[in-house]
Amino acid sequence: MSTAPVLSPALQERLDSARQLTDSIFRLLKPEALYSRPIPERHRLIFYLGHLEAFDWNLICRKTLGVDSFSPQFDTLFEFGIDPPVGQAATDQPSDWPRVEEIQAYNRRIRERIDELLDRAPEQIIQVALEHRLMHAETLAYLLHNLPYGQKTTNAAPVVHSTHQLVNPMIEIAPGVATLGQKPGEFGWDNEFAEHQVSVPGFRVSKYKITNGQYADFVREGAPTPHFWIPRGDRFIYRGMFSEIPLPLNAPVYVTHAEATAYARWAGKKLPTEAQFHRAAYETPGGSERLYPWGSVPPGGSAPPDEARGNFDFHHWDPVDVNANPAGDSASGVSQLVGNGWEWTATKFGPFPGFQPMPFYPGYSQNFFDEEHYVMKGGSPVTAACMLRRSFRNWFRPNYPYVYASFRVVED
Ligand SMILES: [Fe+2]
Repeated sequence: MSTAPVLSPALQERLDSARQLTDSIFRLLKPEALYSRPIPERHRLIFYLGHLEAFDWNLICRKTLGVDSFSPQFDTLFEFGIDPPVGQAATDQPSDWPRVEEIQAYNRRIRERIDELLDRAPEQIIQVALEHRLMHAETLAYLLHNLPYGQKTTNAAPVVHSTHQLVNPMIEIAPGVATLGQKPGEFGWDNEFAEHQVSVPGFRVSKYKITNGQYADFVREGAPTPHFWIPRGDRFIYRGMFSEIPLPLNAPVYVTHAEATAYARWAGKKLPTEAQFHRAAYETPGGSERLYPWGSVPPGGSAPPDEARGNFDFHHWDPVDVNANPAGDSASGVSQLVGNGWEWTATKFGPFPGFQPMPFYPGYSQNFFDEEHYVMKGGSPVTAACMLRRSFRNWFRPNYPYVYASFRVVED
């Protein structure tokens, strides 16, 4: 008999819908594409087909509930992703991986077992599995972004963009306190703890993310072309998820940390620190901090994320214009701090004071406290709503060009 609390139906439903989401992303692939490797520093796509289930199985059933493995070889093969330095590609061949049917059979068996046992697992473990899957939904999206269009099954209509280049003013943010991290008792990954406050001097921040149109001035002065742009003749084309479109001047430019930093320097500005991002996003004139950038009635709170507030949660595969979501503006009028592209910060990914690795997944954050990764905040078009929480932190190497990573600039 189990004494663990019965799993809330909401969590079971969320797991079901997360599975449907990742299944639907795999259906975007033509069968022959499964063994390709769209990004040299990542596994072939076939790895992820097994990884999502292997992760849930290893965490929930084997490590937490002590269930015996029925396929130790697959449990190990699909256990971990890779993150080598850029340029150090893996060398495995398609024939090194099992057949799709074998992996699908493994996956089916795992889902059945997990659903039988889910009630016995602690909620925190289920939340970890759930968010791990949703993070991979985003990873899969940007891996698929880099496949030739002919290897994808869907051709969603491209996002409509304005063509008249907008002005991106600087907005004053008053000095004050930024609360970083997650409250005790709330769900968060280990790197979100402990909650603490940082005092931040006043600064100015761009109202909008830096746009393709703004970045084009930098490229015209000799900066390298971002990965998402394709030079064609004397103009640039944007590499969308399902088709190429003329470069959308008012969409955020997706760049590496190194490119963002170089642009900021060129413009006589800087990237915000993680604490500055928090101030721009969550401060209010009264001194309290919101949970999301936007407010709500009654004043002081934040409505939950919805489509009007920003471009997130898989409503679009590609970025919208930076001024498309005024309903998501912060108290100071800064736009799209959440969604439409993660935002690079100048802060290296490291532990908050009081950091403790999760005992059941000790390497999740700790393996990346290496001075080689930078914090990103906010979220992309394909970041699930639950990970738009204030304390959530993402991180990448400074020269990894494939993520949906935008930036804005600050000056002291
Ligand atoms: Fe993973």
